[in-house]
Amino acid sequence: MRVDVFSAKPHDLVFLRDAARDTELDLQFHEARLTPDTARLAQGAQAICGFVNDDLGRDVIAALADLGVRLVALRSAGFNHVDLRAAQQAGMTVARVPAYSPHAVAEHTLALILTLNRKTHRAFNRVREGNFALDGLMGFDMHGKVAGIVGTGLIGTVLARILTGFGCEVLASDPSPSAECEAMGVRYVEMAELLGRADIITLQCPLTPDTHHLIDDDAIACMKPGVMLVNTSRGAVVDTRAVIRGLKSGQIGALGLDVYEEEADLFFEDLSQSYIPDDVFARLLTFPNVLVTGHQGFFTREALRAIAETTIGNIAHFQREGAALHPVTLPD
Ligand code: NAI
Repeated sequence: MRVDVFSAKPHDLVFLRDAARDTELDLQFHEARLTPDTARLAQGAQAICGFVNDDLGRDVIAALADLGVRLVALRSAGFNHVDLRAAQQAGMTVARVPAYSPHAVAEHTLALILTLNRKTHRAFNRVREGNFALDGLMGFDMHGKVAGIVGTGLIGTVLARILTGFGCEVLASDPSPSAECEAMGVRYVEMAELLGRADIITLQCPLTPDTHHLIDDDAIACMKPGVMLVNTSRGAVVDTRAVIRGLKSGQIGALGLDVYEEEADLFFEDLSQSYIPDDVFARLLTFPNVLVTGHQGFFTREALRAIAETTIGNIAHFQREGAALHPVTLPD
């Protein structure tokens, strides 16, 4: 069975080939992102394998279905970029990797928090220039601070454990509270209380119609002045323009982003020899208290191995049984 892998980077080749070594799958790798223009590369494939910034909207799904593609195997947990209704209408199965390493993303979230707090990114450059002055580098003790986690699924729960270990008081907001979190002392509160009390707010919920621009001007106005906001979930959970207003007014004291609502045209590419075409993103980079990473929360050896194994497992199962191990279905 031929499987066309889109947005393929060198690490995808290594991990997917290794995971597929005992299968009959014919993996074809395309560096190109899946778009209406590149969908035709899948001519001859029965399955395609996509990542977070591939376009899996209605037009692309229709084009793939016309080519005979029966399976979309995502190398991600999030599936907000897939038109599930179009896939269902085309009789196409969509599969994902529901869990690979929640530790990878939770630990990256912590890396952003600690870097923003203790400003190690700035200290690194300063010390290399022989500047050992401390002004501007003052942070705060994590111990005793209030952390608010929005979304305590797999990733949020690991993060809650880490932050509890630091001695933070952890508040959470989630329509489905986790017994594991409650057992470790996490307190579920209304969003308004979380926004108003937290010194550090982290977003670990999926992007859905309910969470789109969850962090907007109104939410920011409810936050503690000088709050640290970190988003490692999906870019559009945050209204970037509102956050820029919050940074300018000082309401937001520090911002860490691993995701950005318009990241598809930027992230995973080397633009260092050209320019950043997105003025809103470029504005974000002018703030000294903003730290952006290019969607690398998942990027650990363990996570990549698990993603590859589950993805190949989904495809091989579909080949044998006509159904994926981890299908994504439309909500009722
Ligand atoms: P999960 O499905 O285990 O947990 C998501 C949690 O969010 C659930 O408990 C759900 O009830 C909760 N939730 C849903 N709507 C909410 C709302 N309106 N307010 C508060 N909570 C809400 O998902 P997991 O594995 O923890 O991943 C979370 C998200 O992280 C993914 O959907 C994905 O978008 C993102 N992610 C980011 C990665 C990165 O590299 N930066 C890698 C992997 C995932």
